[in-house]
Amino acid sequence: MAKSQIRFDLRGATADIVGKADGLTPADLKKLGAETSRVVKQLNATRAKTPYRDLPTNKAISQVDEILASVKKKQGKFDDVVILGIGGSALGLTALKTALRLPYWNQQPAHKRKKQPRLWVMDNVDPVEFAAMLDLVDVERTCFNVISKSGETAETMTQFLMILDAMKDCIGKGWRKNLVITTDAKKGILRPFVDQEQGIESFIVPDDVGGRFSVLSPVGLLGAAMIGIDIEELLAGAAAMDKRCTAADFGSNPAAQGAAVQIGLYRRGKPLSVMMPYAASLKDMADWYRQLWAESLGKIKADGSFVGPTPIKALGVTDQHSQVQLYREGPNDKVFTILSVEDFGHKDPIPAGPEGLGGIDYLVGRTMAQLYKAEEQATIWALSAVSKRPVTKIVLPQVTPFTVGQVLQMLMIQTSIAGEMLGLGVDTYTQPGVEATKEATRALMGKDGTVVAPEAKGLPKECSTYKILRDRIKKES
Ligand code: PA5
Repeated sequence: MAKSQIRFDLRGATADIVGKADGLTPADLKKLGAETSRVVKQLNATRAKTPYRDLPTNKAISQVDEILASVKKKQGKFDDVVILGIGGSALGLTALKTALRLPYWNQQPAHKRKKQPRLWVMDNVDPVEFAAMLDLVDVERTCFNVISKSGETAETMTQFLMILDAMKDCIGKGWRKNLVITTDAKKGILRPFVDQEQGIESFIVPDDVGGRFSVLSPVGLLGAAMIGIDIEELLAGAAAMDKRCTAADFGSNPAAQGAAVQIGLYRRGKPLSVMMPYAASLKDMADWYRQLWAESLGKIKADGSFVGPTPIKALGVTDQHSQVQLYREGPNDKVFTILSVEDFGHKDPIPAGPEGLGGIDYLVGRTMAQLYKAEEQATIWALSAVSKRPVTKIVLPQVTPFTVGQVLQMLMIQTSIAGEMLGLGVDTYTQPGVEATKEATRALMGKDGTVVAPEAKGLPKECSTYKILRDRIKKES
């Protein structure tokens, strides 16, 4: 039987539903289709420049076999897995855990987790939060996975130093068995550390795969496999989607359609892009996507102009009681993407209540899933048909590793296409704006020496040393 395919539905963003002023006419779609078709052909021809596309099928770079072997070896040895990483080194795995494991995973009793470890993704340097996590885990029974592509991010390095100390303290000589390092093959301080310390397990963040495109590399896969997620199915889903997204034919390429609607309407005065899953399990997918979209597309173009749609994450139905008022009656400057799940696998009927609660009779005998779907349909209708706000849908038959793999790959490719559509000077795969804050933080924390390529990192060109940078920040802030 064919495995379930996700679907992209753009009807709610067409002029038919939201009118010509706010939606795309057949002529608009034809033009955007031709534009994305050119981009897709170009991306196909230059595929070697985007190796994230090959992660689902190339075991040498995904390292999937090594990951599975490593997880097998670790079985029963650890109660907790702690990830030390930030941004692209953290958000993908969090999205996988929320989507594909039981809700409240860390609070579930061991038998409900099938004895798989709890997972903590530490993507901040809040000292109170970090200390609380350390109080909750038994260091001797914890696997710490440090993830940093650059191997020099201050936040992750700080966590690493704190954990190294705690491990040596609590475990003594055998501490190396509790550590896994995922980093670049050559760059940064972590790789030489692995080489010099015998017995630390390590994985490679593949060359030219940036953090936000790395969820299907050991960055996301190791932690996911440690908590029992079927990573082979995840990769199979991503591979199936990748194939669909090589199609130059607009009608068969969901990533091209997604990019066309987003960028087509961005150009027409809708700079805000809301992702609103109607499934709590997909709420962190919106968080992951927010980073992917923001860091990849928020750029200064070659002509000095600023571009980039602003991603916003929301959650159905929770945010119906929070933001939908603004979404319907505030400025018509947003494009909505609803993540829609067809089957939740729960069919328990809503029971009858005590006598006298007649006003809510209509709920009785229905299911919670039916209510969820009704709220989704009602919101889409109210947003698009009534308030003329463009809405698209990504439909997952069920939330499984295979469908989640498809969504991840589709959204990464959509981002690549959108970057090309935004035009000259938008390098989808760099993040100079973030690099500048990283370098500035290092300067303030007392680093000395030369700042390599300050302008390429978004810093003023005269900031050639950390001292000059530090003095400037102190004077100007
Ligand atoms: O997407 C990106 O490239 C960034 O968000 C990085 O993942 C983040 O800055 C962390 O960098 P690193 O993995 O080098 O520690």
